[in-house]
Amino acid sequence: MAEKLNGEVYYPSEEVISYARIKNWDELNNFAKKDLQNFWAKEAEELFWFKKWDKVLDDSNKPFYKWFTGAKTNIVYNCLDAHLKTHRRNKLAFIWEGENGEWKTMSYHALHRETCKFANVLKSMGVQKGDRVTIYMGRIPEIIIAMLASARIGAVHSVVYGGFSVESLAERIEDSQSKVLIVADGAFQRGRIVPLKKIADEALERCGTVEHVLVVKRTGQEINMEYGRDMWYHELMNLPIASNSCALEEMDSEDPLFILYTSGTTGKPKAILHTHGGYMVGIYTSLKYVFDIHEEDRYWCAADPGWITGHSYIVYGPLLNGTTSFIYEGAPNFPYPNRWWQMIEKYGINILYTAPTAIRGLMRFGEAWVKRHNLSSLRLLGSVGEPINPEAWKWYYKVVGNERCPIMDTWWQTETGMFMITPMPSVPLKPGSGTKPFPGIEMDVVDEKGNPVKPNEEGYLIIKTPWPAMIRTVYKDPERYVSQYWSKYPGVYLTGDSARKDEDGYFWIIGRVDDVIKVSGYRLGTAEIESALVSHNAVAEAAAIGLPHEVKGNAIYAYVILRNGIEKSPALIEELRQHVSHEVGPIAKPERIEFVDSLPKTRSGKIMRRVLKAKALGQDPGNISTLEE
Ligand code: PRX
Repeated sequence: MAEKLNGEVYYPSEEVISYARIKNWDELNNFAKKDLQNFWAKEAEELFWFKKWDKVLDDSNKPFYKWFTGAKTNIVYNCLDAHLKTHRRNKLAFIWEGENGEWKTMSYHALHRETCKFANVLKSMGVQKGDRVTIYMGRIPEIIIAMLASARIGAVHSVVYGGFSVESLAERIEDSQSKVLIVADGAFQRGRIVPLKKIADEALERCGTVEHVLVVKRTGQEINMEYGRDMWYHELMNLPIASNSCALEEMDSEDPLFILYTSGTTGKPKAILHTHGGYMVGIYTSLKYVFDIHEEDRYWCAADPGWITGHSYIVYGPLLNGTTSFIYEGAPNFPYPNRWWQMIEKYGINILYTAPTAIRGLMRFGEAWVKRHNLSSLRLLGSVGEPINPEAWKWYYKVVGNERCPIMDTWWQTETGMFMITPMPSVPLKPGSGTKPFPGIEMDVVDEKGNPVKPNEEGYLIIKTPWPAMIRTVYKDPERYVSQYWSKYPGVYLTGDSARKDEDGYFWIIGRVDDVIKVSGYRLGTAEIESALVSHNAVAEAAAIGLPHEVKGNAIYAYVILRNGIEKSPALIEELRQHVSHEVGPIAKPERIEFVDSLPKTRSGKIMRRVLKAKALGQDPGNISTLEE
C-alpha cells in the first residue's frame, strides 16, 4: 500500500500490524492478481473435500461461471464435523443472549448433535436433496440449526427475514415451492412479541405448497396449531427418529446450498442462488483475512441470519473458521441504550460487525452510555449495508473503539455472497471508504459506455473478474440473471451501485442507481412497496422513493393516487401505512404518504421516480425529455 495517501487517513498502529495475519496487503493482492486460480485453490486446500476438484474455475459458459468443478463436499462438514476431530470439539460455537436476558451456549459438539437430530426430523418429513425448505424465525439458535440441518441433507434453505410479513412470506414460499416451513411461535422485539406463527398462518392461506409446519417455541403465547400440518420442534426432537447421528449428503461443488430472496431493479424479489463449494471457499477466506479471525476470538456480527450478512458471516463463515460467535436476539437499545456495550463487556467480545444505521442510532444517545462500560476487549470493528458517513465512522472509531480498533467497512451484496471492497486490519483507512477490492477481485467505476471515469468522478460500479462466492443464477430465471447483471456491459457484472474511485484507488460508494431503497441497511424494492399499496382497495396507483434520513440512511416516501370517489383523510394515510406493514413488513412502512392526482411517467408508462425525488428534495429533475406529463 502506498506510503502517503491523500485526504484524511488513519494508518494502522504498530500493535495492529504486529497482530494482523496479513501484514502486507500488496503482497497478497499481487499473488492473487498474478494467479487467481492458484490463490483460491490454496485457500480451498485448507478445507475438507470428499473429492478434489478437476478445475478451479470453469468459464466455458459465461456468465454461468462454475468453481471447483468435479469436487465433492458439503459446507456443513467443514462447519461442524471437521472440528470434532480437533481441539475445537468442546469449543463454544456460539453464545446466545435473548432480549429477555436468557442465555445459552453451544459447543461445536452440541451444535453438531442438534443439527444431526433436526436433519433426521427433516428426513422423516420426506425432505430430500434439492428440496426447498423455508425458514422464518427471529435471532434464536434454532434458526442456525435449521439452516445447517437442511444443508446437511442436501436440501436448499430459503430463509425469510423475521421482519417480513404476510405477503412477502407467501410469495417467497410460493416461488420456492417449499413443502416444509420452519417457524417460531414468535420473536421478542423491544419487549413485545412479533407473532410469527400467526403471520405464517395467514401467509399459508395464500400459497398452497407447504405440507408440514415445524414450530419452535420461543415466546410461548397461545397459537393455532393445525392438526396434521403443524408440529412442535421440541416434541419432534424428543422422538426416537431424531437420533444423534445423521449421514451427510456428499454434494457436488456446484450443487445449490441456499436461495435468498432480494429486491431487484424491477418487479418481484428474486431468489439469488449460492452453492456449496465456491461460496464456502469465498466466505471462509474473506472472513479469515478481513476480521482476522484468531482461535481465541469472540466475534459478534449483529446482523440478522435472515439476510445475506447473517448467512455468510453469522452462520457459515464463523463456523468454517471454528470461531466462537456471540448472537443477540433483540434491539440495540432495549431496555436501555447501553444494552450492546453491556454485552460486549460481559462476554468479552473482540470483534463487532454492524451497520451504520445502528451506529447512528446509538450515537444519538451520547457517549456517556458507552463510556460506562469497559470495552477494552474490542480489537476490530466492522460496518456493512450502506455507506457510513464520516461522522458516524469517527464516533465508532473514537468512542466505541477508543482509537485502537480499525474499522472494516465492507461493501458487498446478496449476489456477491462475500466481501468485495474491504480493508484488512493492516490497511490504512479513510472514513467513509471501504478502501480497495479484496485480493483477486477487479472492480472499477465506469461511465454509460463502460469507459473508466476519471478519479473522483461518479459512475457505475462494476466487477470485472469472477469470484468463488458469486451468485450462480436467479433461481428458476436464468434469463433474469443474464439481463440484470451481465447485459449493460458485456462480460462485466453490474452492481447497481454508483461510486467514485479516488486518486489512491480507494472506492467510495454513493448509493443505488436502480429502484432499490436501502432503509436502515435493509434492501427493499420500490415495486414491493407499490404493489402492497395498490393491493389496498382505496388505491389506484402508487410510487415509492427513498429520501435521505438521519438515522435510517433512507426513508420511504410514497405518492398515492386514490380510486375515484375515495375521500382523502389522515386516517386513510395511517391505514395505508399499516397495510404496507402488514403485507411487506414494518421495515417497509412509508415514513410519509402523500395523495396526488398524477405521477410523472415516461411515454411508455414507467414512473419516473427520479423526478419525484428531485421534486421532494427541491432539486433540478435533470433531463425530463421523456416525461409525458
Ligand atoms: O448499495 C450497496 C449497499 O447494499 C447493497 C447490497 O444490499 P444487500 O444485498 O442487502 O447486502 C447488504 C449486505 C452485504 C449494495 O449494492 N452496501 C452494502 N455494503 C455497503 C453498501 N454501501 C456502502 N458501503 C457498504 N459497506
